Amino acid sequence: MTGPAILTYNGQTYELPVVVGSHREAAIDISRLRETAGIITLDSGFANTGSCISNITYIDGERGILRYRGYLVEVLAAQSSFIETAYLLIFGELPTADQLKDFRSALTRNQSIHEDMHHHFDGFPPNAPPMAILSAMINALGCFEPVFMGEESDDQFVLAAARLMSKIRTIAAASYRKSVGKPMIYPRSQLRYTANFLHMMFSDPYELYEADQTFVDALDLLLMLHADHEQNCSTSTVRMVASSHANLHTSVAAGVSALWGPLHGGANAAVIAMLTELVETGEPLEHFIARVKDKDGKARLMGFGHRVYKHFDPRAKLIKAACDRLLNKLGRSDPLLDMAKRLEEVALRDEYFIERKLYPNVDYYSGIIMRAMGIPTDMFTVMFAIGRLPGWIAHWREVRKDPNSRIDRPRQVYSGPVVREYVPIEERN
Ligand code: SDX
Repeated sequence: MTGPAILTYNGQTYELPVVVGSHREAAIDISRLRETAGIITLDSGFANTGSCISNITYIDGERGILRYRGYLVEVLAAQSSFIETAYLLIFGELPTADQLKDFRSALTRNQSIHEDMHHHFDGFPPNAPPMAILSAMINALGCFEPVFMGEESDDQFVLAAARLMSKIRTIAAASYRKSVGKPMIYPRSQLRYTANFLHMMFSDPYELYEADQTFVDALDLLLMLHADHEQNCSTSTVRMVASSHANLHTSVAAGVSALWGPLHGGANAAVIAMLTELVETGEPLEHFIARVKDKDGKARLMGFGHRVYKHFDPRAKLIKAACDRLLNKLGRSDPLLDMAKRLEEVALRDEYFIERKLYPNVDYYSGIIMRAMGIPTDMFTVMFAIGRLPGWIAHWREVRKDPNSRIDRPRQVYSGPVVREYVPIEERN
């Protein structure tokens, strides 16, 4: 146990308990600070604030370590699958062969959406952003099947998790089909999770798409590497909505909205736009990097930097290696991958990036893999959401099972006008 933190304020001294995590990381528990010292803390962006105690995922940003329920992500990448890892994150343990078989069959049994939901897609304009459709349709799912509130039995939770994981994939593929003016494709029960998604994306009524196993393996790895990342912006959003006891569907739909931002899950698409522009314009990399470093330059090296990782994002290294494997297997090259590698090299030698500990993050290379299998850029963040869903479900459940959970309601420091008298409109100028 670590001794208390001592706060001296206004001539008074206060002892604040210190909470220590599994890896000896320490946090000052300020839950009684305002009551005892009449003061709150302020931490814009929550860079120094722990929102909860969680036993799902651990990140050591200084050493570039990521563990799902104690398992190194590199080990899971080499030996596990997206669905097995999803089971681990959601239920806390690696499944037995029977448990995995049951979970996979629950995914298969719940792969289709209500026929009436097909008509919802007709209500969206052809250029509707797939993330807008995804968030709306996840909420709509809750109108066609029982929503999960968190008080139900463990068996009902397994079903709710399988339903949501299976249907998000069907909705995502349908939103893509809508955007390219093609009919929705029904899932095929004989296909596993990732292959079934690619089937629903690229088959046609008159011609089945049989996904190359190389594509299936690469996409499965990508989904698994996105499966959770502790208190990132979208997961914290899901937890906040869960804290109001809102149902699982709507909490996840809120997570989709938070993920959409270009500083978060939208970065994978922004990386492709950035690399494409560099390839097409031929702008010298040194010139682009100078624009990035120029505060007024407004240019950002998308796919670089991270709030927690101040070393390599282990996912970026695994995805970069998967890019090489995939393109070598296909006997293809991608000028964007070559550009990404050159840009990484130039940036990692530059004092600006070294000083700020800016490294490639999960979004830097992921788009290259998705491009190689024909997934369009506007679907990249949807793919991130499909991958992140197991983590969102796990965190939602952790909030709802926590006996000490309270509604999230942060305080603020007010900086507005102190007191003002009401002025009748005729006297205003
Ligand atoms: C994800 O939180 C998670 O875990 C997220 C995620 C997950 O799995 O859920 O890992 C997924 O969202 C990855 C991040 C994807 N976003 C991007 O790639 C967008 C580009 N990156 C940045 O905008 C930024 O690095 C963030 C948003 C990722 C982190 O922002 P922070 O922690 O608020 O850092 P900051 O903006 O305060 O930057 C610190 C300094 C600043 O310079 P100074 O003011 O000190 O001079 O670093 C600079 C920034 O200008 N900087 C960058 C930069 N990222 C930070 N400069 C140029 N290019 C960048 N990419």
